[in-house]
Amino acid sequence: MLNVTNLSHNFGPYWALKNCSFSLKKGEFLFLTGSSGAGKTTLLRLLYASLPVMRGNVNVAGYNLKSLPARQIPNLRRQVSVVFQDFKILPYRTVFQNVAMALEVRGLSNIHIDRRVRAVVRGLGLESRINMLCGELSGGEQQRVAVARSIVVNPKILLADEPTGNLDEDLAARMMDIFKKFHMHGTTVVLATHSSNIVRMHPEARQLRLEHGKITAANWRGAEIFSDSIAEEHL
Ligand SMILES: Nc1ncnc2c1ncn2[C@@H]1O[C@H](COP(=O)(O)OP(=O)(O)OP(=O)(O)O)[C@@H](O)[C@H]1O
Ligand SMILES: [Mg+2]
Repeated sequence: MLNVTNLSHNFGPYWALKNCSFSLKKGEFLFLTGSSGAGKTTLLRLLYASLPVMRGNVNVAGYNLKSLPARQIPNLRRQVSVVFQDFKILPYRTVFQNVAMALEVRGLSNIHIDRRVRAVVRGLGLESRINMLCGELSGGEQQRVAVARSIVVNPKILLADEPTGNLDEDLAARMMDIFKKFHMHGTTVVLATHSSNIVRMHPEARQLRLEHGKITAANWRGAEIFSDSIAEEHL
């Protein structure tokens, strides 16, 4: 479902990712951890084709991202949903409109859209906010709108960048339950987080730790821990 091989990425002279290799099967749940600047967002952006793959290979939901023509990117993004660290929701649209948008572009009927949006919004405890403008919501509420928008389309792969960062413990646990529910239905989830608490609460999940762009720890055999000899070969 997700295959990353010898992936490196630089911003000018700075290597944000160095020789990362790991793979995930359908329905696996991965926590991506590591301190600020470790490369988590960069990795998620590469998986979503919002950064080009320059070194190494990435295969996501059957798409080879290294050779993916730009016109195929919308098709990839029908399978892969993302919750961005900075939400990217539209402040002058309501909660309903923000969540419905992803379904509208897929041409679903209004009745269908209405039902799906309301169910997801309810699941995230936002039903009383559904007709409010997103710009008027608190940070945690906006974050839940971003999550609602990404899960409403039933993606094959869900990438989430710090989705619980602005939430109190109860809400974070509730959101994790929602992610887990998706995962139970076969969605592959990659979730970047700083919260060691959340990771500890889900010991069955895969874990991958990045430090200065390198994979320095992983708890399953599908990931390659960085070693300098491999690095020299590829960089
Ligand atoms: N567009 C960019 N241009 C230049 N450098 C960048 C760019 N994006 C990221 N970087 C650098 O790459 C490194 C990794 O950044 P990244 O955003 O992937 O870290 P992160 O692990 O997501 O951190 P955080 O936990 O703070 O979100 C950082 O040092 C950052 O400054
Ligand atoms: Mg980040």
